[in-house]
Amino acid sequence: MTAPEDRLIIKLPTEVPDMGTDPLPIEPYISADFFEKERTQVFAKAWLNVGRVDEIPNVGDYLVKRIEVLNATILVVRGKDNEIRAFHNICVHRGMQVTAAGCEKGNAQGFMCGFHAWVYDLEGKLTHVPGKEYFPDTDFDGLQMPPVTLEIWKGFIFINDQEKPKKGLVEYLGGLGDDLRGYPFETFNHIARYRANVNVNWKTFIDAFHEAYHVAEVHKNTIPDGCNSPDNPNAVPSSARIYPPHHAVSVPLNSAYVPTPAAALAWKFGASFAPGDMVDLEGLNPSGDDNWWFDINTLFPNFFIDVGPGWYFTYHFWPVSVDETHWEMNIYQLEAKTAAEKIAQEHTKVLLRDILYEDLSTMEQTHQSMKSRKLDSMIVGEMEIAVRHQLYEVMQWVDGKGCME
Ligand code: FES
Ligand SMILES: [Fe+2]
Repeated sequence: MTAPEDRLIIKLPTEVPDMGTDPLPIEPYISADFFEKERTQVFAKAWLNVGRVDEIPNVGDYLVKRIEVLNATILVVRGKDNEIRAFHNICVHRGMQVTAAGCEKGNAQGFMCGFHAWVYDLEGKLTHVPGKEYFPDTDFDGLQMPPVTLEIWKGFIFINDQEKPKKGLVEYLGGLGDDLRGYPFETFNHIARYRANVNVNWKTFIDAFHEAYHVAEVHKNTIPDGCNSPDNPNAVPSSARIYPPHHAVSVPLNSAYVPTPAAALAWKFGASFAPGDMVDLEGLNPSGDDNWWFDINTLFPNFFIDVGPGWYFTYHFWPVSVDETHWEMNIYQLEAKTAAEKIAQEHTKVLLRDILYEDLSTMEQTHQSMKSRKLDSMIVGEMEIAVRHQLYEVMQWVDGKGCME
């Protein structure tokens, strides 16, 4: 069948790999065997974001991140020299986790294991062993919590499970990192965090977040006409940029958008997520699209940075198992200098909460249907190019052809 010529064609300024147009197989979204391959071939090799430097601004500040897909708990610490390091949160004595169960962040002068009280400094080194004389054959020199490879880009802290990753972080981020280099992330404040554990495969979860085709239906109660316009009723992205293994999609703005009374009120005072005036920031709209709303940047495999005029937000999609994903959203905005600007930020916070409830509503039903194995493939259109590229990359990596081999 020939495609009708009157359809909107997505602007693709970068080279796109030959991904075909076939339906996508469902097996990778439900197979436990495939998930085990993703664990070793994707997550154990990719750079993974675990937070931002502004979460641990002071000496001794630390974060604890449980990463199920790596079977690891990572301790990220700002040391006495102000350097940020990461360790496996493991005591070298008999392997207990060093920080208290359930602890996610804190400030410490050092860390004491809660089992036999071995003590580590902020640089991860073992500094005290009660009853040391009872270990006459042990050489304690140089013992430390096992280090984790860490690099920082634009204030985002990434770790890598490889001792010597094939590519450093900047090289790994490639053209996507170049496009975002000018965006002033460091001037934004964290204003909200939402998270959920959902019974869905991580890829199915991700796929609902890098296409706007669903907006008219799923978001009909919140932003029904944010990006769907009379001249673009299917919210076809205004452009997409593919920088394997990453990609970015620019969400179009409805040229005929009429703000709701609440959105109009918010924009009167400051920048809100609802479509509104452009606050020109470097790094936005790299393809120079008309009717541009915001950019969805998918940093392979599981981290999104969505940047807009006066706000940005991130998503983490952490696989727990083939059937479960831990999701987290963090919202950032420029400092509210007045109470009125704070009102605009509160509007964003609540509007996004409602939008995300809508997004999450499709997850478990989709996953359950996939697991029924009544369909062996799914149909993906041109406007869902990011869905196609995400699976394409995962398959490449699982086959040992990823960029970190
Ligand atoms: S396991 Fe940590 S002190 Fe024994
Ligand atoms: Fe959505």
